[in-house]
Amino acid sequence: MAKQIWKPANLLNPVPAVMVSCSDNEGHHNVMTAAWCGTVCSDPVMVSVSIRKSRYSHELISKSEEYVINLVSRDMVKTCDFVGIKSGRNIDKFALKGDLRITGCPSQKVGALSIAESPVSLECKVKQVLELGSHDMFVAEVVSTTVDDRILDENGRLDLKKADLVAYSHGEYYGLGELLGKFSFSTHKDERLKTRQAMNREKRSGKALQKERDGKDER
Ligand SMILES: Cc1cc2nc3c(=O)[nH]c(=O)nc-3n(C[C@H](O)[C@H](O)[C@H](O)COP(=O)(O)O)c2cc1C
Repeated sequence: MAKQIWKPANLLNPVPAVMVSCSDNEGHHNVMTAAWCGTVCSDPVMVSVSIRKSRYSHELISKSEEYVINLVSRDMVKTCDFVGIKSGRNIDKFALKGDLRITGCPSQKVGALSIAESPVSLECKVKQVLELGSHDMFVAEVVSTTVDDRILDENGRLDLKKADLVAYSHGEYYGLGELLGKFSFSTHKDERLKTRQAMNREKRSGKALQKERDGKDER
């Protein structure tokens, strides 16, 4: 197997495609798509989004020091692409019509609007801005989380599968594929149990075969 050595490349994939909504807290609202977005701390709950200085959203977030990360479901993917192509300097993305329409709704703790169609919205307050080069990274604390009750199970627990989230990989949007395992499944008792059950099945079928053979012998 041959490998090629390339120059440094942004090839960390897949990544989430999310819609980041923001405002300057002076009545201007906007939303952009971001794929360079990540979880960076669990206590306090913190995230980051890297945004080019040229984006209108960069201007608004720099003023308000707030933004909302809105997760994207399969049925929102076209809008997600569109708001990642057009700038809010030229159009009001909260006034789009037809299948591109998104509904802005008041957030709990920040001035930026949340997106009603989004299954999960994370309201964020900026703690640090890292000027990295092409992009500035807005590191922020999540101060409120809104979860659509359509993605809860009958016991009120989050069932994120129901959100049908979108991933982005090398310029292409994907739905999530088949479940391959659950966290720590490689060390899980269940897994060992399944292996034991499979071995027992094998043993049983071996015995059955033996019986069959014995039976045949008797006949
Ligand atoms: C899938 C996708 C991912 C994107 N990710 C980012 C990103 O992480 N950071 C960024 O600065 N721009 C990103 N963009 C580009 C902006 O969303 C785009 O330039 C947008 O028009 C900016 O809008 P604004 O000027 O209204 O802020 C992405 C675009 C797409 C389609």
